[in-house]
Amino acid sequence: MELIEQILKLKKEKNALILAHYYQIPEIQDVADFVGDSLALAKIGASDARDLIVLCGVRFMGETAKILSKNKKVLLPSLDAGCPMADMVDAKDLQKYKQANPNRTIVSYVNTTAEVKTLTDICVTSSNALKIMEKLEDTQFLFLPDRNLGTYIQSQMPEKDIELWPGFCLTHQRLRREDVVELMDANPSAQVLAHPECNQGVLGLADYIGSTKGILDYAKNSQHKEFIIATEDGIMHPLSEDNPNKKFILASPRLVCMNMKKNSLQGLYRCLLEETNEILLDEQTIELAKKPLDRMLAMS
Ligand code: 13P
Ligand code: SF4
Repeated sequence: MELIEQILKLKKEKNALILAHYYQIPEIQDVADFVGDSLALAKIGASDARDLIVLCGVRFMGETAKILSKNKKVLLPSLDAGCPMADMVDAKDLQKYKQANPNRTIVSYVNTTAEVKTLTDICVTSSNALKIMEKLEDTQFLFLPDRNLGTYIQSQMPEKDIELWPGFCLTHQRLRREDVVELMDANPSAQVLAHPECNQGVLGLADYIGSTKGILDYAKNSQHKEFIIATEDGIMHPLSEDNPNKKFILASPRLVCMNMKKNSLQGLYRCLLEETNEILLDEQTIELAKKPLDRMLAMS
Protein backbone atom coordinates (compact mmCIF):
# COMPACT_ATOMS: atom_id res chain seq x y z
CA MET A 1 0.00 0.00 0.00
CA GLU A 2 2.83 2.34 0.94
CA LEU A 3 4.50 1.81 -2.43
CA ILE A 4 1.24 2.49 -4.26
CA GLU A 5 0.75 5.71 -2.30
CA GLN A 6 4.32 6.79 -3.09
CA ILE A 7 3.77 6.16 -6.79
CA LEU A 8 0.52 8.13 -6.81
CA LYS A 9 2.18 10.99 -4.90
CA LEU A 10 5.15 11.12 -7.28
CA LYS A 11 2.86 10.90 -10.30
CA LYS A 12 0.96 13.94 -9.07
CA GLU A 13 4.07 15.94 -8.17
CA LYS A 14 5.64 15.27 -11.56
CA ASN A 15 2.41 15.53 -13.51
CA ALA A 16 3.23 12.18 -15.13
CA LEU A 17 0.95 9.92 -17.18
CA ILE A 18 1.16 6.21 -16.33
CA LEU A 19 0.02 3.93 -19.13
CA ALA A 20 -0.31 0.15 -18.78
CA HIS A 21 -1.04 -2.65 -21.19
CA TYR A 22 -3.64 -5.27 -20.24
CA TYR A 23 -0.83 -7.84 -19.87
CA GLN A 24 0.72 -6.01 -16.92
CA ILE A 25 0.40 -7.37 -13.38
CA PRO A 26 -2.89 -6.32 -11.68
CA GLU A 27 -1.12 -3.95 -9.24
CA ILE A 28 0.34 -1.95 -12.13
CA GLN A 29 -2.98 -1.89 -13.99
CA ASP A 30 -4.64 -0.55 -10.83
CA VAL A 31 -2.15 2.26 -10.34
CA ALA A 32 -2.15 3.37 -14.00
CA ASP A 33 -4.06 6.39 -15.33
CA PHE A 34 -5.08 4.38 -18.34
CA VAL A 35 -4.99 0.67 -19.24
CA GLY A 36 -5.41 -0.34 -22.86
CA ASP A 37 -4.43 -2.34 -25.91
CA SER A 38 -1.56 -1.34 -28.19
CA LEU A 39 -3.75 0.91 -30.33
CA ALA A 40 -5.30 2.78 -27.40
CA LEU A 41 -1.91 3.24 -25.71
CA ALA A 42 -0.49 4.71 -28.92
CA LYS A 43 -3.41 7.12 -29.24
CA ILE A 44 -3.57 8.30 -25.64
CA GLY A 45 0.19 8.81 -25.34
CA ALA A 46 0.01 11.23 -28.24
CA SER A 47 -3.18 13.08 -27.25
CA ASP A 48 -2.56 13.56 -23.52
CA ALA A 49 -1.07 16.92 -22.52
CA ARG A 50 1.34 15.58 -19.86
CA ASP A 51 4.93 15.53 -21.05
CA LEU A 52 6.24 12.71 -18.86
CA ILE A 53 4.94 9.25 -19.78
CA VAL A 54 5.74 6.00 -17.97
CA LEU A 55 4.79 3.18 -20.30
CA CYS A 56 4.22 -0.08 -18.43
CA GLY A 57 4.51 -2.50 -21.29
CA VAL A 58 7.28 -3.68 -23.58
CA ARG A 59 9.86 -1.72 -25.51
CA PHE A 60 8.03 -1.36 -28.84
CA MET A 61 5.15 0.30 -26.96
CA GLY A 62 7.53 2.80 -25.37
CA GLU A 63 9.14 3.46 -28.76
CA THR A 64 5.72 4.01 -30.36
CA ALA A 65 4.84 6.55 -27.65
CA LYS A 66 8.15 8.35 -28.22
CA ILE A 67 7.78 8.36 -32.01
CA LEU A 68 4.30 9.88 -31.73
CA SER A 69 5.34 12.43 -29.07
CA LYS A 70 8.98 13.19 -29.70
CA ASN A 71 9.08 16.13 -27.28
CA LYS A 72 7.80 14.09 -24.36
CA LYS A 73 9.96 12.07 -21.99
CA VAL A 74 8.97 8.41 -22.24
CA LEU A 75 10.17 5.97 -19.57
CA LEU A 76 9.91 2.19 -19.43
CA PRO A 77 10.08 0.67 -15.90
CA SER A 78 12.20 -2.20 -17.24
CA LEU A 79 14.31 -1.31 -20.28
CA ASP A 80 15.02 -4.97 -21.03
CA ALA A 81 11.30 -5.76 -21.42
CA GLY A 82 11.48 -6.51 -25.12
CA CYS A 83 9.15 -8.38 -27.43
CA PRO A 84 10.71 -11.55 -28.89
CA MET A 85 8.32 -11.34 -31.84
CA ALA A 86 9.46 -7.79 -32.69
CA ASP A 87 13.06 -9.06 -32.58
CA MET A 88 12.25 -11.67 -35.24
CA VAL A 89 12.60 -9.03 -37.97
CA ASP A 90 16.05 -7.80 -38.74
CA ALA A 91 15.95 -4.43 -40.51
CA LYS A 92 18.73 -5.47 -42.92
CA ASP A 93 16.77 -8.56 -43.99
CA LEU A 94 13.69 -6.40 -44.53
CA GLN A 95 15.71 -3.94 -46.60
CA LYS A 96 16.89 -6.83 -48.82
CA TYR A 97 13.33 -8.11 -49.14
CA LYS A 98 12.11 -4.66 -50.22
CA GLN A 99 14.80 -4.43 -52.90
CA ALA A 100 13.80 -7.83 -54.28
CA ASN A 101 10.04 -7.12 -54.01
CA PRO A 102 9.53 -3.42 -54.76
CA ASN A 103 5.84 -3.86 -55.58
CA ARG A 104 4.75 -5.26 -52.24
CA THR A 105 3.23 -2.93 -49.67
CA ILE A 106 4.97 -3.46 -46.33
CA VAL A 107 2.43 -3.78 -43.52
CA SER A 108 4.01 -4.02 -40.09
CA TYR A 109 2.28 -5.08 -36.94
CA VAL A 110 2.96 -2.39 -34.33
CA ASN A 111 4.99 -5.09 -32.50
CA THR A 112 8.14 -4.12 -34.41
CA THR A 113 11.27 -2.11 -33.65
CA ALA A 114 11.46 1.59 -34.54
CA GLU A 115 14.05 0.71 -37.19
CA VAL A 116 11.68 -1.74 -38.90
CA LYS A 117 8.94 0.91 -38.82
CA THR A 118 11.22 3.23 -40.82
CA LEU A 119 11.04 0.66 -43.66
CA THR A 120 7.27 0.21 -43.39
CA ASP A 121 4.43 1.59 -45.52
CA ILE A 122 1.73 1.27 -42.87
CA CYS A 123 1.49 -0.07 -39.32
CA VAL A 124 -1.45 -1.98 -37.89
CA THR A 125 -2.43 -3.45 -34.52
CA SER A 126 -4.50 -6.55 -33.90
CA SER A 127 -7.58 -4.37 -33.43
CA ASN A 128 -7.39 -2.54 -36.76
CA ALA A 129 -5.32 -4.79 -39.08
CA LEU A 130 -8.24 -6.28 -40.95
CA LYS A 131 -10.17 -3.00 -41.29
CA ILE A 132 -7.11 -1.15 -42.57
CA MET A 133 -6.01 -3.82 -45.04
CA GLU A 134 -9.54 -4.09 -46.41
CA LYS A 135 -9.54 -0.35 -47.08
CA LEU A 136 -6.17 -0.32 -48.86
CA GLU A 137 -6.40 -0.54 -52.63
CA ASP A 138 -3.04 -2.32 -52.92
CA THR A 139 -3.26 -6.02 -53.75
CA GLN A 140 0.22 -7.35 -52.92
CA PHE A 141 1.52 -7.17 -49.37
CA LEU A 142 4.24 -8.34 -47.06
CA PHE A 143 2.80 -8.73 -43.56
CA LEU A 144 5.25 -8.84 -40.67
CA PRO A 145 6.24 -10.20 -38.23
CA ASP A 146 3.29 -12.28 -36.98
CA ARG A 147 2.52 -15.16 -39.33
CA ASN A 148 -0.52 -16.13 -37.20
CA LEU A 149 -2.21 -12.73 -37.43
CA GLY A 150 -1.17 -12.60 -41.11
CA THR A 151 -2.71 -16.01 -41.85
CA TYR A 152 -5.92 -14.94 -40.12
CA ILE A 153 -6.07 -11.73 -42.20
CA GLN A 154 -5.39 -13.69 -45.40
CA SER A 155 -8.26 -16.06 -44.55
CA GLN A 156 -10.60 -13.08 -44.24
CA MET A 157 -9.50 -11.47 -47.52
CA PRO A 158 -8.54 -14.30 -49.91
CA GLU A 159 -8.61 -11.93 -52.90
CA LYS A 160 -5.41 -10.22 -51.67
CA ASP A 161 -1.92 -11.66 -52.05
CA ILE A 162 -0.21 -11.53 -48.65
CA GLU A 163 3.30 -12.85 -48.07
CA LEU A 164 4.02 -13.66 -44.44
CA TRP A 165 7.16 -13.07 -42.41
CA PRO A 166 7.83 -16.23 -40.38
CA GLY A 167 7.53 -14.55 -36.96
CA PHE A 168 5.30 -15.42 -34.03
CA CYS A 169 4.59 -14.57 -30.40
CA LEU A 170 6.38 -17.04 -28.12
CA THR A 171 3.65 -16.68 -25.50
CA HIS A 172 0.59 -17.28 -27.70
CA GLN A 173 2.40 -19.98 -29.70
CA ARG A 174 2.75 -22.05 -26.52
CA LEU A 175 -1.00 -22.57 -26.41
CA ARG A 176 -1.93 -25.87 -28.09
CA ARG A 177 -5.21 -26.81 -29.69
CA GLU A 178 -5.40 -29.83 -27.31
CA ASP A 179 -5.28 -27.49 -24.28
CA VAL A 180 -8.37 -25.67 -25.53
CA VAL A 181 -10.20 -28.85 -26.57
CA GLU A 182 -9.69 -30.29 -23.08
CA LEU A 183 -11.17 -27.18 -21.47
CA MET A 184 -14.07 -27.10 -23.94
CA ASP A 185 -14.92 -30.70 -23.02
CA ALA A 186 -14.84 -29.85 -19.30
CA ASN A 187 -16.80 -26.57 -19.76
CA PRO A 188 -19.26 -27.26 -22.60
CA SER A 189 -21.17 -23.97 -22.27
CA ALA A 190 -18.04 -21.80 -22.33
CA GLN A 191 -17.23 -19.68 -25.37
CA VAL A 192 -13.65 -19.50 -26.62
CA LEU A 193 -12.23 -15.98 -27.05
CA ALA A 194 -8.84 -15.89 -28.77
CA HIS A 195 -6.19 -13.34 -29.70
CA PRO A 196 -5.14 -13.61 -33.37
CA GLU A 197 -1.53 -14.22 -32.28
CA CYS A 198 -2.66 -17.80 -31.41
CA ASN A 199 -1.91 -20.52 -33.94
CA GLN A 200 -4.47 -21.65 -36.52
CA GLY A 201 -5.37 -24.80 -34.56
CA VAL A 202 -6.54 -22.65 -31.65
CA LEU A 203 -8.17 -19.96 -33.82
CA GLY A 204 -10.21 -22.67 -35.55
CA LEU A 205 -11.93 -23.35 -32.20
CA ALA A 206 -12.67 -19.72 -31.33
CA ASP A 207 -16.14 -18.18 -31.07
CA TYR A 208 -14.51 -14.76 -31.19
CA ILE A 209 -11.09 -13.63 -32.47
CA GLY A 210 -9.86 -10.16 -31.58
CA SER A 211 -7.40 -7.89 -29.83
CA THR A 212 -7.20 -7.64 -26.05
CA LYS A 213 -9.71 -4.77 -26.12
CA GLY A 214 -11.89 -6.71 -28.53
CA ILE A 215 -11.95 -9.68 -26.13
CA LEU A 216 -12.86 -7.41 -23.20
CA ASP A 217 -15.70 -5.76 -25.14
CA TYR A 218 -17.01 -9.07 -26.42
CA ALA A 219 -17.08 -10.62 -22.91
CA LYS A 220 -18.87 -7.60 -21.47
CA ASN A 221 -21.56 -7.46 -24.14
CA SER A 222 -22.13 -11.21 -24.46
CA GLN A 223 -25.14 -12.99 -22.96
CA HIS A 224 -22.86 -15.96 -22.22
CA LYS A 225 -21.61 -16.51 -18.69
CA GLU A 226 -18.48 -18.65 -19.19
CA PHE A 227 -15.43 -18.07 -21.35
CA ILE A 228 -12.15 -19.80 -22.15
CA ILE A 229 -9.56 -17.06 -22.65
CA ALA A 230 -6.82 -17.65 -25.22
CA THR A 231 -4.47 -14.75 -24.60
CA GLU A 232 -1.97 -13.56 -22.01
CA ASP A 233 -2.86 -14.03 -18.36
CA GLY A 234 -2.84 -10.27 -17.49
CA ILE A 235 -6.20 -9.84 -19.21
CA MET A 236 -7.86 -11.99 -16.52
CA HIS A 237 -7.72 -9.01 -14.15
CA PRO A 238 -9.84 -6.54 -16.18
CA LEU A 239 -12.11 -9.39 -17.34
CA SER A 240 -13.04 -10.37 -13.80
CA GLU A 241 -13.21 -6.74 -12.59
CA ASP A 242 -15.59 -5.78 -15.40
CA ASN A 243 -17.74 -8.92 -15.15
CA PRO A 244 -18.01 -10.14 -11.52
CA ASN A 245 -20.82 -12.55 -12.39
CA LYS A 246 -19.10 -14.26 -15.30
CA LYS A 247 -16.55 -17.07 -15.23
CA PHE A 248 -13.24 -16.80 -17.09
CA ILE A 249 -10.85 -19.73 -17.55
CA LEU A 250 -7.33 -19.08 -18.82
CA ALA A 251 -6.73 -21.51 -21.70
CA SER A 252 -3.31 -22.52 -20.32
CA PRO A 253 -1.14 -21.57 -17.33
CA ARG A 254 1.67 -21.13 -19.89
CA LEU A 255 0.05 -18.00 -21.31
CA VAL A 256 2.40 -15.67 -19.48
CA CYS A 257 4.63 -13.19 -21.32
CA MET A 258 7.87 -13.06 -19.32
CA ASN A 259 8.72 -9.68 -20.83
CA MET A 260 5.44 -8.04 -19.87
CA LYS A 261 6.00 -9.40 -16.37
CA LYS A 262 9.42 -7.78 -16.01
CA ASN A 263 7.71 -4.60 -14.81
CA SER A 264 7.02 -4.41 -11.08
CA LEU A 265 5.59 -1.76 -8.75
CA GLN A 266 9.09 -1.33 -7.33
CA GLY A 267 10.53 -0.80 -10.81
CA LEU A 268 7.75 1.64 -11.68
CA TYR A 269 8.41 3.63 -8.49
CA ARG A 270 12.17 3.79 -9.09
CA CYS A 271 11.78 4.79 -12.72
CA LEU A 272 9.34 7.56 -11.83
CA LEU A 273 11.51 8.78 -8.96
CA GLU A 274 14.83 8.83 -10.83
CA GLU A 275 13.38 9.40 -14.31
CA THR A 276 15.65 6.67 -15.61
CA ASN A 277 15.10 4.14 -18.42
CA GLU A 278 14.23 6.79 -20.96
CA ILE A 279 13.42 5.71 -24.51
CA LEU A 280 15.78 7.59 -26.80
CA LEU A 281 15.58 7.53 -30.59
CA ASP A 282 17.38 9.68 -33.13
CA GLU A 283 15.49 12.39 -35.05
CA GLN A 284 15.69 10.61 -38.40
CA THR A 285 14.32 7.34 -37.00
CA ILE A 286 11.47 9.22 -35.36
CA GLU A 287 10.64 11.10 -38.55
CA LEU A 288 10.62 7.99 -40.76
CA ALA A 289 8.92 5.67 -38.25
CA LYS A 290 6.17 8.22 -37.58
CA LYS A 291 4.88 8.07 -41.16
CA PRO A 292 3.45 4.50 -41.05
CA LEU A 293 2.09 5.11 -37.54
CA ASP A 294 0.36 8.35 -38.58
CA ARG A 295 -1.06 6.56 -41.60
CA MET A 296 -2.47 3.87 -39.31
CA LEU A 297 -3.98 6.40 -36.91
CA ALA A 298 -5.58 8.27 -39.79
CA MET A 299 -7.25 5.06 -40.97
CA SER A 300 -8.29 3.72 -37.52
P1 13P B 1 -3.13 -5.92 -28.41
O1 13P B 1 -3.10 -5.26 -27.07
O2 13P B 1 -3.09 -4.90 -29.49
O3 13P B 1 -4.23 -6.88 -28.56
O4 13P B 1 -1.75 -6.71 -28.61
C1 13P B 1 -1.34 -7.65 -27.79
C2 13P B 1 0.10 -7.81 -27.79
O5 13P B 1 0.66 -8.63 -28.40
C3 13P B 1 0.89 -6.99 -26.97
O6 13P B 1 2.11 -7.55 -26.88
FE1 SF4 C 1 5.55 -9.82 -27.63
FE2 SF4 C 1 3.87 -11.86 -27.36
FE3 SF4 C 1 4.82 -10.70 -25.20
FE4 SF4 C 1 3.07 -9.41 -26.77
S1 SF4 C 1 2.71 -11.25 -25.57
S2 SF4 C 1 4.97 -8.60 -25.88
S3 SF4 C 1 3.69 -10.17 -28.78
S4 SF4 C 1 6.01 -11.83 -26.75
